[in-house]
Amino acid sequence: MFLDKIKQAPMAGTFNDYILLPGLADLEPSNIDVSTRLTDNIELTTPFISSPMDTVSGSELAIALARLGGLGILHRNCSIEEEVEDARKVKRAESFIIRDVVSISPDQNVEEATDIMHKKNISGLPVIKDGKLSGIITKRDVTFATSSRFVKEVMTGNVIIAREDVSVKEAKKLMSENKIEKLPIVNKKDKLTGLITIKDLFLREKYPYGTRDQDGRLMVGAAVSPFDIKRAKVLEKHVDLLVIDVAHFHNKNVIESTKKLIKETDIEIIVGNIGTKEAMTDIITNLEGISGVRVGVGSGSICTTSDVTKAGSPTLYATCLVSEAIYENKSKISVISDGGIRHSGHAALAFSLGASAVMMGNVFARCKESLGELVTIGDRYYKKYRGMGSIEARQKRFTLDRYNTPSKELAEGVEGLVPYTGDTEQAVNKLVSGLKASMGYAGASNLSDMWNKTKLAKVSQLGGQELKPHNILLPNQNEKTEI
Ligand code: XMP
Repeated sequence: MFLDKIKQAPMAGTFNDYILLPGLADLEPSNIDVSTRLTDNIELTTPFISSPMDTVSGSELAIALARLGGLGILHRNCSIEEEVEDARKVKRAESFIIRDVVSISPDQNVEEATDIMHKKNISGLPVIKDGKLSGIITKRDVTFATSSRFVKEVMTGNVIIAREDVSVKEAKKLMSENKIEKLPIVNKKDKLTGLITIKDLFLREKYPYGTRDQDGRLMVGAAVSPFDIKRAKVLEKHVDLLVIDVAHFHNKNVIESTKKLIKETDIEIIVGNIGTKEAMTDIITNLEGISGVRVGVGSGSICTTSDVTKAGSPTLYATCLVSEAIYENKSKISVISDGGIRHSGHAALAFSLGASAVMMGNVFARCKESLGELVTIGDRYYKKYRGMGSIEARQKRFTLDRYNTPSKELAEGVEGLVPYTGDTEQAVNKLVSGLKASMGYAGASNLSDMWNKTKLAKVSQLGGQELKPHNILLPNQNEKTEI
């Protein structure tokens, strides 16, 4: 029996063990589509998601990623209020029609108007009298007016307005023809129902492929514990997706709690992490109503889980097992490969084994918008990056229940530095062009082709060496460690 265990142990390969074989290509990179359906309600034009980690995903990274067609998942190593505030910041970053419009009354004065604009960081206020729109006052109107004058004396009274069904194109036309920066939306009873700003329209133009909700606001997900229904119920009002965030989801207690959480909420849910076919089959059998699953246990660049526990499932191997279970069960749950993904080639391998998206911590921790602190050593910049199971992250205590042993002492992650790489936009552009290049070689025009048409080969150790630059002296050759 024990001998069989060793004899029958499969090979749990990692990203560097496999290569995507070139396939017949009939396409140019510009015709390759990397968009993906993450859930019924969320389609991403770029299949990249940030890890919910406290040196990675706050509002700034989530805004940047959603504008580029990806998705940020807010970390949960903070109070409920802090996580909600982050979500609010993402939702306020832009929208087509703003709904919670800040307004003023005609009988208030210029000083009050200036104060509100300053505090709320906005450049104009609709003026409301008896529930109806009677004017608009902007920074330009208050700049040279004495502070004691009434709003009604300095506001613009004859306001250009639009109706609820106005299109982006019509709004833009109206605003440019009338040289206005704000367009109030008014119903038939002259009641203000929303506001369009030129800033938001420009942002839509600049980032046409952003991940946006029905109101044109950026989409965002948030991590929660399976045992914290209160947090989930509060957050579901502010985000588009909840991510049940534990290191080992294939656990009866976790699955039972998640069941309750699903019953009490009304939002799309992703669970994880898992690493085996049995885990996926159990989820399909026992847990209705989930949209996706995070796959990979112990492969993260900051993980020590597999090192200290000798338990884990490398992300590529885990992706293959979980995708197989989904395929066999004809399930539509999407697979998010998570952990150890360093570049677009790794992502391409994950897509070839059934992933719908990839989640990265390390790659996004390096970016300007991540939460990690910027550190200078000599003339180089780095960002702090740490595992959620590291001693340092556990000191904040909000994520202790991510791990089996809720103890501050047993670390399952490390804290360290990653090189600073600049804007998220650059990182995402590099990932997208790299992924398109891989798909071009593999002859895949979209992610569905990646699942169905591509072939992999196993690389020998010597083969792996040959696939990198060799027999040549390179600058920085002393920098052997790939960070
Ligand atoms: P990368 O390779 O992108 O991986 O840095 C990020 C993923 O690693 C997981 N994660 C952890 N796993 N101990 C672990 O075993 C930890 O402290 C830890 N923190 C994060 C998580 O799945 C993340 O998305």
